[in-house]
Amino acid sequence: MSILSRLALVASVSVLLSSTAMAADLTVGFSQIGSESGWRAAETSVTKMEAEKRGIQLKFADAQQKQENQIKAIRGFIAQGVDAILVAPVVATGWEAVLGEAKDAKIPVILLDRGVDAPQDLYLTSVASDQVEEGRVAGRWLVDAVKDKDCKVVELQGTVGSTPAINRKKGFEEAIGGKANISIVRSQTGDFTRAKGKEVMEGFIKAENGGKDICAVYAHNDDMAVGAIQAIKDAGLKPGSDLLVVSIDGVPDIFSAMAAGEANATVELTPNMAGPAFDALEAYLKDGKAPEKFIITESKLYTPADNPQGEYETRKGLGY
Ligand code: AHR
Repeated sequence: MSILSRLALVASVSVLLSSTAMAADLTVGFSQIGSESGWRAAETSVTKMEAEKRGIQLKFADAQQKQENQIKAIRGFIAQGVDAILVAPVVATGWEAVLGEAKDAKIPVILLDRGVDAPQDLYLTSVASDQVEEGRVAGRWLVDAVKDKDCKVVELQGTVGSTPAINRKKGFEEAIGGKANISIVRSQTGDFTRAKGKEVMEGFIKAENGGKDICAVYAHNDDMAVGAIQAIKDAGLKPGSDLLVVSIDGVPDIFSAMAAGEANATVELTPNMAGPAFDALEAYLKDGKAPEKFIITESKLYTPADNPQGEYETRKGLGY
């Protein structure tokens, strides 16, 4: 072997060694919102599994739904000198200062599943769905389902000030816009939780002739839809037929409700945001090339025609 080929071999082996050692040497901080929904629990489990699979040391901080806890956690990660930070931002505003501190410390930040109102140079990339499109997919489904029938919709919004609540509302309104027969008659936050979804739905039912005037429930996530389904049943009505139920996430419980004829449609949100995030981070650390600013996950509609019992079985062990 010539000296040149020997050198080339040594160089390629050392690149290989440094890139395999790289993932194993990484320490990543993850500021998670909390555990408000089944989807959130699954995202946490998948992130921990993805980190373990790649030999990444994950420092996990649960913010219990509070932005101030997330900011504290991020400052803690910076002080510890982690290699990167993942953050699922509970609300859109109020991030500039802390993201600026991470930037000054040269620690790349990746946003998971929600966006922020902050300059794009403060984060490396954002891995999330197109939340406006999710709202549109749900709205288009309803337009198709009701055809020309008059339809009063009640809306359960997500956490006030969060990007999925803002964008899913926007997309749904866009999709039903121009349809004179469909209107949102009540809209309130259920904070993405099952308990709040049920409570708010009980109020809607009382206010709307015992629920008889409501044609459909649009919930910004499945957990609130599952709470609403319980409220509808408690009021002596049939969810899925007396009142249509459409929501977002694709958690096992909504598929089980669908299999029982009590839910009509859901738009899937993958809980695997960490896989694409770690891929982007590892590639960036390896060759310094910045990834796409927005990595968009798919938004697929599921209805009772899509074997809901099978979907339930496939997902039930995935940490939801
Ligand atoms: O940001 C994603 C949303 O947050 C999910 O749709 C919801 O379930 C979660 O709480």
